[in-house]
Amino acid sequence: MAEPFRIALAGVGTVGGGVAHQLLTRGDELAHRAGRPLKLIAVSTREVDKPRRTDLAGIPWQANCVDLASTDAHIIVELIGGEDGPALDLIEAALEARKPVVTANKALLAAHGLRLATTAESAGIPLRFEAAAAGGIPIVKALRESLITYPIECVRGILNGTCNYILTEMEATGSPFAEVLRDAQAHGYAEADPALDVGGGDTAHKLAILSALAFGVAPGTRSMRVSGITAIEQEDISFAREFGYRIKLLGVARRNGQQLDQRVGPAMVKIATPLADVDGVFNAVVVHVASAGPFIFEGRGAGEEPTTSAVIADIVDIARGANGPAFGRPARDLEPVVSAPGDACRSPFYVRFALLDAPGALAEIAGHLAHAGVSIDSMIQRPQSTADAVVIVMITHECSQTAIEAAIKAISASDKVVGIPCLIPMETI
Ligand SMILES: NC(=O)c1ccc[n+]([C@@H]2O[C@H](COP(=O)([O-])OP(=O)(O)OC[C@H]3O[C@@H](n4cnc5c(N)ncnc54)[C@H](OP(=O)(O)O)[C@@H]3O)[C@@H](O)[C@H]2O)c1
Repeated sequence: MAEPFRIALAGVGTVGGGVAHQLLTRGDELAHRAGRPLKLIAVSTREVDKPRRTDLAGIPWQANCVDLASTDAHIIVELIGGEDGPALDLIEAALEARKPVVTANKALLAAHGLRLATTAESAGIPLRFEAAAAGGIPIVKALRESLITYPIECVRGILNGTCNYILTEMEATGSPFAEVLRDAQAHGYAEADPALDVGGGDTAHKLAILSALAFGVAPGTRSMRVSGITAIEQEDISFAREFGYRIKLLGVARRNGQQLDQRVGPAMVKIATPLADVDGVFNAVVVHVASAGPFIFEGRGAGEEPTTSAVIADIVDIARGANGPAFGRPARDLEPVVSAPGDACRSPFYVRFALLDAPGALAEIAGHLAHAGVSIDSMIQRPQSTADAVVIVMITHECSQTAIEAAIKAISASDKVVGIPCLIPMETI
């Protein structure tokens, strides 16, 4: 019998609890896959006495998770979470002790991924993170190992189940954002503090990981445009339907020559195209590969079972001897992102604003658009229920981000416009 593969696990919450459960209850089956028994030899949690679904009584517990790195474990699995703090301390200690690491921690990888990958590669050990982007969908392995022959042109995805659930429910129920968010929190689909999800930050962390794998750039969010779904109103969802679109929070990374356009935000996605039909807490990623693609991945992006499935797959890979650079290329070859300028980022746009119902008001808006070089493809005008204003919705012809932003700035400054205009790009592929 081969020597057991000894595993130390930090964090036994939603994901870590699932991993511990699988290791302790399905050992024989996993041993067949790994080619050797998988043995949980130590755990660390915040509270030792907290009731757990899986009985961990026989597993040695470490009060300080960093001490896991000095056990005789073959591998450290970090499932605590958080960009810094104990999770980072543990991973650094593990790599220093030349122990392979598996993590699901996208926030930490987006902030420190390059440095940690460099350390792991210098030590000749693997750092794996399949669960960190799109949960159970095996997109990390696909980008790292499979879609490597032809250049990738674009990666687009619905990467946050909370936002997708909220947008799907807003459409299905006609309820406003705040009400649907409260309902999502009550059902456990949204955190008590939802800012990272609904503000787009969580999607940005995951996009940073996918961009690094797909385009060979250093992971990071600094060069991204990031916005969330908090400003989406019920009328945007119904106008989108009228134009044949649905609103989704997308993470998009698109190659533009030597530059990269990376953005996170609400986008209009044409009905009956792959991302438009992804509902509820599901995630999906479309990878456009020159000559060979598109490839579409869809599945559960969060929750105990899908995420556990991805973590166990990484553990089994490493138990079998898998190694190689964390982001598919040597870390020293990962380039800094050269952002595509706003002039190079082009699409049609959806624009909604409330306009005073006064002579010359619409002509003034048309003037601002024309001055910025933006032309209108179609327009709808509706009375607004309050005040003496009308709601104007325009779909522009394709134009640059810079041009539409200049037009929106001028429109927002007009004394004939009430409130803040809403601007959403329309996905064209
Ligand atoms: N939940 C998901 O669906 C999902 C999906 C993809 C990726 N992820 C990522 O997976 C990671 C874990 O998420 P989760 O949802 O499982 O979190 P969670 O349910 O909050 O569990 C966190 C665990 O970490 C433990 N912990 C906290 N501080 C600790 C410390 N200083 N030392 C040792 N253990 C400590 C907690 O201990 P106690 O149990 O004693 O409190 C708990 O067991 C995060 O990086 C997250 O982003 C989660």
